[in-house]
Amino acid sequence: MSDTKKSPQGEWSSHFAFILAATGSAVGLGNIWKFPYITGENGGGAFVLVYLLCVALVGLPIMMAETLMGRRGRHNPVTTMEALTAEAKADEHWHYLGWMGIIAGMLILSYYSVIAGWATAYVFKAFSGSFFDADAHAIKQLFADFIASPIQLIFWHTAFMLATMSIVKRGISHGLEKSLRFLMPCLFVLLILLVGYAMTTPGYFQGLHFLFNADFSKLSGNSILTALGQAFFSLGIGMGAVMVYGAYLPKKISITETVVIVSIADTVVALLAGIIIFPIVFTNGLEPNSGPGLIFETLPIAFGSMIGGWLFGILFFVMLVVAALSSSVALIEPTVTWLIETRGFSREKACLWSGLVTWLVGFASIFSFNSWSEFKVFGLTLFELLDYATANLMLPIGGFAIAIFAGWVMVRDHSEQELDLPNPQSYQIWELLIKYLAPAAVFFVFLDVVGVL
Ligand code: TRP
Repeated sequence: MSDTKKSPQGEWSSHFAFILAATGSAVGLGNIWKFPYITGENGGGAFVLVYLLCVALVGLPIMMAETLMGRRGRHNPVTTMEALTAEAKADEHWHYLGWMGIIAGMLILSYYSVIAGWATAYVFKAFSGSFFDADAHAIKQLFADFIASPIQLIFWHTAFMLATMSIVKRGISHGLEKSLRFLMPCLFVLLILLVGYAMTTPGYFQGLHFLFNADFSKLSGNSILTALGQAFFSLGIGMGAVMVYGAYLPKKISITETVVIVSIADTVVALLAGIIIFPIVFTNGLEPNSGPGLIFETLPIAFGSMIGGWLFGILFFVMLVVAALSSSVALIEPTVTWLIETRGFSREKACLWSGLVTWLVGFASIFSFNSWSEFKVFGLTLFELLDYATANLMLPIGGFAIAIFAGWVMVRDHSEQELDLPNPQSYQIWELLIKYLAPAAVFFVFLDVVGVL
């Protein structure tokens, strides 16, 4: 593989374009919808602390590894893994890692799109003034009535999948760049404004206390696995999405710098979401552990009572949908490039088939919120099962494999060359993290969950 090799799917137009796309993939429902609700379910501060450690010590080095593997392999995850194993003269079974990524991406998108559909529906609810002067009880009822209706959920899930696939059809580096350039900064400004609102609520300090006061007695082995899984989910690593984005990365761009910027932005957005939501929870006497509906049961209360709340409500949900779109295209892109590069599909046809399958799988999650809510496997609804299997199992296993591959299998000169760190010491720090710490952390968390520790 020569240094000048480019991905057959094209390249990012600039460094900024790549940062935008990578931030777009990282920042999404994971930060604004999932982080607050799982923090609420896992007792707050201690969980947040473990999450931050997972991001810094495990997520960051693995994200660097995944990007550099993508840039060296220059293709979809399966072909990239084949090329890298050939180059390192390693066992060919490594390409299963690419396969797992493709499957994980589609499974995640199947439920991600359902939730993004809720956010899309809430744009219209905000617009029609449904939140106006509504109290906590009315907002909760509004949400309960909404998810009880399969027809509505199917409608919005379909709309969101169509939007995703029409962007992917145009090729992500063209389809998304322009809108992200404008919308990502707007999302950030809006979050800051909402923090301003949260500060005026009587529950503000109680919310902060919940989020930042670490009480380790509330932490179980499964909470630690959830924190680890969330670090992977939120950064968007462990399944080849970053690998594919790395494949479009020109040689001259610093991987380390980009990855650090993206993970800081991702973490800041998640924390801001928490700082906004928990004060509203405590001010209105709600339960922090109410599950996946948390943001839909809390934020509308704020929009219904604050000055300018009608406009802020619309803007907020629009931006949430855009943030979700820029993540969902990253989730399906590995499958689409794989179909194009190895099955000879046109981009349109690849989008049609991968979109159709993902859309159908999404029905399992939709019904798990209403008609099939009593149907449980291992005590979990189908939505919970999909989420657990992907975020808590497939992503950490994928991340573990990436760490082992980049740390132990790849030719050292190649990873050093791709990372291009300013001095040998920084490379050694990365090497230490990727060879020992990151895989060991994932391994011990798994042992803890299966009860060996
Ligand atoms: N990181 C995104 C979010 O927080 C979701 C996402 C995008 C993702 N690409 C991914 C999750 C790859 C896992 C793997 O919403």
